[in-house]
Amino acid sequence: MNLHSFIFASACAASLSACTPASIDAADAKKRGQLVYAKECSQCHGTRGEGGGPASLGLGVAPPELIGLKQRNDGYFPREFVSRFVMGLLEKEDPDSPMPDFASVGLRHVYPKGGADGEVLEADFEDLLDYLESIQE
Ligand code: HEC
Repeated sequence: MNLHSFIFASACAASLSACTPASIDAADAKKRGQLVYAKECSQCHGTRGEGGGPASLGLGVAPPELIGLKQRNDGYFPREFVSRFVMGLLEKEDPDSPMPDFASVGLRHVYPKGGADGEVLEADFEDLLDYLESIQE
């Protein structure tokens, strides 16, 4: 039994509720995404996406909260917009905005040793988007 199926079996044994590999994968994705968020976004957008983290104090533009993206977008999470915005593909309202262009800087805090060389791995990015979607109000 490999580690993953072991953890899966233990989780199922501990809970009598419906337990499918898909639901576990989704929960894992959110957890991984939360880690990426904590390392790359929380200092500006707040620990839980509530906006204005400590780093924002010295910034000219206050980082907006990210938990109301869905509400601001007629009730559905604007995954495509978020993905493009974070990758620097959309024009910023303020050209001097301190929001990093992650396509050029990479998720550098997720790879402290620079292992991925400033790269944004698609799997990590999808996990991050899953996490952001899960924290919408
Ligand atoms: C250095 C601070 C900083 C960091 C780090 C940062 N942001 Fe931002 N972010 C901002 C600022 C400031 C704005 C608003 C100004 C603008 O339009 O660029 C913004 C805007 C956004 C927006 C647009 C919100 C809207 O309602 O229009 C999204 C989405 C976003 N950030 C997501 C992220 C994600 C995801 C991360 C982490 C991968 C991240 N940001 C990291 C500062 C930051």
